[in-house]
Amino acid sequence: MGIRNLINITDLTIEELNQMMDLADDIIENPEKYYDSCRNKKLATLFFEPSTRTRLSFTAAMMELGGNVLGFSEAGSSSAAKGESVSDTIRTVGCYADIIAMRHPKEGAPIVAAEKTTVPIINAGDGGHFHPTQTLTDLLTIRREKKRLDNMVIGVCGDLKFGRTVHSLISAMLRYDNIEIHLISPEELKVPQYVKDEMDEANVKWKEVLTIEESIPELDILYMTRVQKERFFNEEDYIRLKDTYILDLKKLETAKKDLTILHPLPRVNEISTAVDDDPRAKYFTQALCGKYIRMALILTLLGLNKEV
Ligand code: CP
Repeated sequence: MGIRNLINITDLTIEELNQMMDLADDIIENPEKYYDSCRNKKLATLFFEPSTRTRLSFTAAMMELGGNVLGFSEAGSSSAAKGESVSDTIRTVGCYADIIAMRHPKEGAPIVAAEKTTVPIINAGDGGHFHPTQTLTDLLTIRREKKRLDNMVIGVCGDLKFGRTVHSLISAMLRYDNIEIHLISPEELKVPQYVKDEMDEANVKWKEVLTIEESIPELDILYMTRVQKERFFNEEDYIRLKDTYILDLKKLETAKKDLTILHPLPRVNEISTAVDDDPRAKYFTQALCGKYIRMALILTLLGLNKEV
């Protein structure tokens, strides 16, 4: 695989995506083959924004590959708090680590980072922009659940304006055949125009709807997202919009029996906990897939995937 960094999901061709998912499947089936594959390698996790799943799944991934992890979980415990630039932080950490996963509130920060070091950079989320490793997680989960990534109707619901996981997921799904996308959001949280342009350029069928009920009978995948409090400029708007969508068992009554319900998590109120026991709820399976696909990504970017 030719890529050195992962900034945007479109950095990967479909063939490369498939290879990465095949590798993740093999790791799930044969974990012992990979126990020592990153011995003497170090992953730096630089998180300038809060995270549970992304940071800890990267950490667990590197540990299960036999490597080591260093880093910080908030900007306040790094020299960013003293005014250090992203560029200087990355040049420094590149002296200590073999690969870097970075989350930053500023859109485009990972691009700047990638220019400052020869160490592979993984975008672990940049502002409201992209979250490619979440998309890898989503694709692996969908492929394992549905045994395909084409021929499906996907509903994405919630904060489609600021939800970077949605933007990356749509970009990835556009490349598969016969995909239809339902954008379920309030007026104020509609998907940005550039995402609509991407869908049009790819000739993908899409529509905007205001309620889950309108779409749910048609869906193969329902991808719920939370309203992104941290990206709102005013508290009043957040409070007004935060509970627009709450998926509960009643709303699932008209859904397909083989619907797959996903959520990148963290969840706030948008999926009732009663849904967790429904066999269609796959968001914790999705969180687990996140560890395996990140193991595959680390091996790939370090060029170790062929050695195992
Ligand atoms: N899905 C996701 O990015 O979760 P965290 O913010 O907990 O990493």
